[in-house]
Amino acid sequence: MADLDDIRDGKDYGLSEGQKNEGFFLKGSANLDWGMKDRLSRIFNPETGRSVMLAFDHGFIMGPTSGVERIDLSIVPLIPYADCLMCTRGVLRSLVPPTSRKPVCMRSDAGTSILTELNHNVIVDVQDAVKLNVSAMAVMVAIGDPCTEATTVANLYNAVDAGQSFGIPVMGVTAVGKDMARDARYFGLASRICAENGANIVKTYYTEGFEKVVACCPVPIVIAGGKKLPELEALELAYKAVQSGASGVDMGRNVFQSSKPTAMIQAVSAVVHKNLSPKDAFQMFNDLK
Ligand code: 5RP
Repeated sequence: MADLDDIRDGKDYGLSEGQKNEGFFLKGSANLDWGMKDRLSRIFNPETGRSVMLAFDHGFIMGPTSGVERIDLSIVPLIPYADCLMCTRGVLRSLVPPTSRKPVCMRSDAGTSILTELNHNVIVDVQDAVKLNVSAMAVMVAIGDPCTEATTVANLYNAVDAGQSFGIPVMGVTAVGKDMARDARYFGLASRICAENGANIVKTYYTEGFEKVVACCPVPIVIAGGKKLPELEALELAYKAVQSGASGVDMGRNVFQSSKPTAMIQAVSAVVHKNLSPKDAFQMFNDLK
């Protein structure tokens, strides 16, 4: 308890200076509550405004695909180099060390796998996200898919409501159906719909004309890596995305399926946070073990 017999009068009121009111560094996030901003600041580096999210949620639809057969062996060693981890709650509880001290963007919807028809999903109970102390919830949205568009948009909407109650941001993940054109018009439309429905972050794919996708999306965009590319091409993809205004990457296969995953994630991080050219980043990849 404070000593009541030693209450000293305040002396230093800094009367010559107004109170410092810091703006918030992240696009479209200035009006969010403190808890949301705190969580977003764990995901995105406030100095660069960008993030390298490591995605290893693939097993929830694909099972033990190449690179995630043994997450303890292949992914855990990469954790120190990531800014944020994207995984399911099953893997989080069973394999991610709670001592990692990394923010988690939890895959928060599930329902169908590659063996049936994707995206017939429900969302997890937000109380579990709270228990797991996650920094964001990721929910898939299948814009343009006649079978799953309505449910997945409703999933996003409900996740945003739940996230708002506890200060947890939601990342809308744009799924690309087989029949969708992978162009700026489609990704711009899908990203914008995610943001309009309350997503605080949007994950989508890089495409030609990406600066337009970014410009019309009022919240930060991160790009998925997609299927495995030669390392130089994956670094070029990351470079073009951030130079077009993306706030980082949420990359999986191009990191964990690389011949040198630890070197690859460091090279990607240098592209994202230091604007290293793809050529120099590839050199870095080659030089690292
Ligand atoms: C699937 C996802 C994956 O996490 C995403 O595709 C990122 O992984 P990759 O870089 O391997 O594409 O969100 O819904």
